Amino acid sequence: MKPSSRAVHAGRDLGARSPLAPDMSPASVHVFIDLDDYDAVARGEKPGYYYGRNSNANREMLERAVAELEGAEAGVATASGMAALHAAILALAPRPATILATRELYGGTAALLRQDLEPNGYEIHFLDLTDLDAVRRSVQGAGLVIAETITNPLCRVPDLEAIASMTRERGVPFLVDNTFATPLLCRPLELGATAVMHSATKYLGGHSDLVAGVVVGDTALIAAARARVARTGTPLGPFDAWLALRGLRTLDVRMRRHSENSLALARALHGMRGVVRVYHPLLEGGNRLLAQGSGGMIAFDLDGGREAVQQMIKRFQLVTFAASLGGVETTVSYPEITSHRSMSAEERAELGVGPGTVRVSVGIEDPDDIVADFAQALS
Ligand SMILES: Cc1ncc(COP(=O)(O)O)c(C=O)c1O
Repeated sequence: MKPSSRAVHAGRDLGARSPLAPDMSPASVHVFIDLDDYDAVARGEKPGYYYGRNSNANREMLERAVAELEGAEAGVATASGMAALHAAILALAPRPATILATRELYGGTAALLRQDLEPNGYEIHFLDLTDLDAVRRSVQGAGLVIAETITNPLCRVPDLEAIASMTRERGVPFLVDNTFATPLLCRPLELGATAVMHSATKYLGGHSDLVAGVVVGDTALIAAARARVARTGTPLGPFDAWLALRGLRTLDVRMRRHSENSLALARALHGMRGVVRVYHPLLEGGNRLLAQGSGGMIAFDLDGGREAVQQMIKRFQLVTFAASLGGVETTVSYPEITSHRSMSAEERAELGVGPGTVRVSVGIEDPDDIVADFAQALS
């Protein structure tokens, strides 16, 4: 099956009289009449569910679907993308180790590494993963490498395949945050990554109505992540899993439209008043890792800093300011006070994120309407 068809059907096993859309299963606990039967289900030797923190039908269906789309053996769905990251990192590097992470990392991930892992003995090095010589120099002795398929917010695309070949050679696990690209545009496991995580809050769900995360990888890794998620109490709830799976069914058509619209807006922004720089993964030509498009994420720098950004936001008629991304509607975010607020101004400046930097999550509206709203707001 092609990936677009897989998105429509993944994770389910329909038989005669099955519901076409999955039933909701909110039960926190299932009853048993046979102690051996319970024991076998709890050990995972028999199919079934016993307690909601450990397993649930809706969660399991989403996990299977994302694993199938990413080409993974298994997946575990968590209460948020951050919970997925935490579970993935600790499954890949359970004891204090050196973690190499992309310099241009989602601020929440950077905060997790610095505020939760560093005080527990992990050493964190941030580096530019598009500089392969720097990666080569640093990877020896590392315990984990973390990359984002498309960086947040400046939309750069590291060569995941080259990084994966370096990490594999040295036996270093490689975790990719594939939130911005989704498995329809990039499948990092096929490029050699060890595990992939998503904030399913974004494109997988796609409708700004849930918070969720998923980690996928091989069976042993996911068993370790799942056990930790159960112990720490961070699994995804049934209704959010149901919603995420419902969103996933239209992922292909949404990602195609996001990709077309983001390119149209990036091109149009170039000529708009006050726009000094536009960041889009494919604006300067194709990228072999994103052959089908790059989704809806772009960024631009506006002359006039925070005040100019504020004026633009006030004038929008269609676009809204919202500190998330990946929904059907076009939104802008201001990294200085949203995704990158945990960094100092100096750290942001080093990355190239300044007071005029705006991140756009380009939605699936008509591209003419999106471009017109930016044009009038910046005029
Ligand atoms: C690239 C990326 N990774 C992870 C996360 C964290 O996900 P969540 O907010 O679902 O915990 C986000 C959230 O913005 C993100 O943009």
